[in-house]
Amino acid sequence: MLLQPTVRVCIMVWFQRIALGLLRCDYMLHEHALKQVEMNTIASSFAGISTAITQLDRFVLTEIGRSDIMEHIPANGALAGLCNGMLDAWKMYNNKDAVILFIIEDVTYNICDQRFHEFEIRRLNPHARVIRRNLTQIAERASLSKDKELIVDGVVVAVIYFRSGYQTDAYHSKKEWDARLLMESTI
Ligand SMILES: *[C@@H]1O[C@H](CO)[C@@H](O)[C@H](O)[C@H]1NC(C)=O
Repeated sequence: MLLQPTVRVCIMVWFQRIALGLLRCDYMLHEHALKQVEMNTIASSFAGISTAITQLDRFVLTEIGRSDIMEHIPANGALAGLCNGMLDAWKMYNNKDAVILFIIEDVTYNICDQRFHEFEIRRLNPHARVIRRNLTQIAERASLSKDKELIVDGVVVAVIYFRSGYQTDAYHSKKEWDARLLMESTI
C-alpha cells in the first residue's frame, strides 16, 4: 500500500538561472514502521490523489466506528505543497502575464490528478494561469524570444511542470527532442 506521499519543494541552480525541483517521497508500511521506498525527481505527482486518500481514510474510520484513532492520521498538505512551489517559482519569474506550462502525455491517464493541481493553483493565486501541452505541440508551437524566454502560442512561460518527457517513448521523433532542448535553453 502506498502511504501518504510527502512532498518537498526546493529551488535549485540549474541550466536556467533558477530551477524548481518538485520531489515526491513515497513510504510503505513495514512491520509497523514507515520506510521510504522512493524519491521521484521528475513527474512528481499524485499530490491531488494522495490528499484525497487522507479524506478517504478518515471517512472509512468513521464508517467502521474507529474515529477514536483519527488523530493518528497526519495532515496531508501535498497538493498545496507542490502548487505553492510552482507559484513561488512563478512569482520569482516576475511576469504576471506569464503562465505555468504542464508538459503532458499524449493520452493523459492522470488527468484527474493534474486537474487537481490546476484548480489548486487557481485557488491559491487566481492570477497564475496553467496551460497544458504535449511535446509534439511544443515542437510545433513553441519558440524562444530574443531574451531566451519560452513562448508557447503567444504567451510567455514562467514555469514548466514536466508530467511527461521522462521516458524515451514520449519522444516520437527528433522534433520532440528538439522541443525539449528548446525548453532547456531558456534562461
Ligand atoms: C498532442 O496533443 C494533441 C491535442 O490534444 C493531440 O491531437 C495529439 O494527438 C497529441 N499527440 C501527438 C503525438 O501529437
